Amino acid sequence: MTVLPSSSLQAAAPWLRADWRPDSGQVLAVRGGRPLEGVYPISGAKNAILPLMISALLTPHLVTLRNVPASLDVAVLSALLRRLGTEMHWSMTASGLSVTLSADRLQPGSIDGELVSRMRASVLLLGALLARCGEARLPMPGGDAIGLRGIDFHLAGLRAMGAEIELASGLIEARAPQGLTGAEILLPLPSVGATENLMLAAVAASGTTVIRNAAREPEIVDLAHCLGAMGAKIVGAGSHVLTIEGGAALTGAVHDVVPDRIELGTLACVAAVTDGEILLRHGRAAHLGAALSAFQAAGVDLCEEADGLRARRAPGGLAGIDVVTQPYPGFATDLQAPTMALLTLAKGASAITETLFEQRFLHVGELRRMGADIAVHGRTARVRGVAGLHGATVACTDVRAAAALVIAGLAADGETVLTGLDHLDRGYDRIVDKLAACGADIVRR
Ligand code: UD1
Repeated sequence: MTVLPSSSLQAAAPWLRADWRPDSGQVLAVRGGRPLEGVYPISGAKNAILPLMISALLTPHLVTLRNVPASLDVAVLSALLRRLGTEMHWSMTASGLSVTLSADRLQPGSIDGELVSRMRASVLLLGALLARCGEARLPMPGGDAIGLRGIDFHLAGLRAMGAEIELASGLIEARAPQGLTGAEILLPLPSVGATENLMLAAVAASGTTVIRNAAREPEIVDLAHCLGAMGAKIVGAGSHVLTIEGGAALTGAVHDVVPDRIELGTLACVAAVTDGEILLRHGRAAHLGAALSAFQAAGVDLCEEADGLRARRAPGGLAGIDVVTQPYPGFATDLQAPTMALLTLAKGASAITETLFEQRFLHVGELRRMGADIAVHGRTARVRGVAGLHGATVACTDVRAAAALVIAGLAADGETVLTGLDHLDRGYDRIVDKLAACGADIVRR
């Protein structure tokens, strides 16, 4: 197989071209004040696609993923996987972007440090490569600047499965010359990444692995479904205890990526803050967890329909609420910044407490430049609703901060200019085109 992006694919996702490089010169100009209306198709989940693509390394057979989001993270991971000898074929159909991966000639030694440093999820290569090749050598991964984000749970779990791991000069060197063996693992926190890494390792280990205090996010369930379609035996996905019987010979699979619940929540905020009405096609209310009732209390009406969720502002208007981020099904930390943008315009006061990441208020300063009234005390941001926001030049500092600034810009008077667009592109599939189709005045220049 070769990488042959069709012209339509290049138009939708230019970064999937092998020679694409980020263009830091670009900015996004948003003119707010228009109620957005229409249909917004929710893409496959940003946080599901990365472990799903890496799961293809576990088998020499073909794995096809459909409903792939055309995000910059996908491009970075694609480049990483190509360096490892994975072949990929992309196609664009009316139902979305698909990729078929073939990892029958894997070269575990050749990992690109610059690419790893751009994406924290690349740490998931550890579990998959150890499982398939018995070795992995990886620079310490990077990612968003939202906190310390250790990988100690990942390493402890893999060590419990028999891996020898050394850390030196910014490198992780892991070996399992005799193969991995099943183990009982208790995670100190229900870490999403650690749960995924250990699932990937455990399906190829000999014997049974039990992961206690496992993460329960829909993306974990989606990974379990894909691995199950490949022949893995996993019980308990979506609960606190995952039991994985390892050692089954894995086949290929065809899998549809779960819709993105964070894109769903972000767009619900857009509909409400602009006083518009948007059908969020493919959106699943149940995947919002605690955010569903929080949105309703804040005046974001979400009504389930046959092919998605209809989002609009409640007749009583937006109201301040208190929010505490928690692992799923608690209020998602990834919806904290978008929700804060919404609450800047709600009647009354809100308190937003971030419990997962210590530096996840980088958007506060930028929202203030647009007229928001927000004060941060430790891990809590107190937001007093204002009558209106005004356009300003603001910088995106992480993917969800970028989404918050888009929401604020769509509601603000005048023009908002966003810089640092790589952050937005990391996680949001064609957001500019999809918002423009709902009537937004939004353009890259
Ligand atoms: C994933 C999501 C991210 C989301 C986060 C929490 C992907 C690609 N990213 O990130 O969008 O915000 O879940 O829902 O899916 N921790 C440790 N040691 C570890 C692992 C985690 O201390 O070994 C800590 C982290 O610093 C953090 C907390 O545990 O404070 C939760 O992190 P985790 O669930 O692992 O987040 P990610 O998988 O990195």
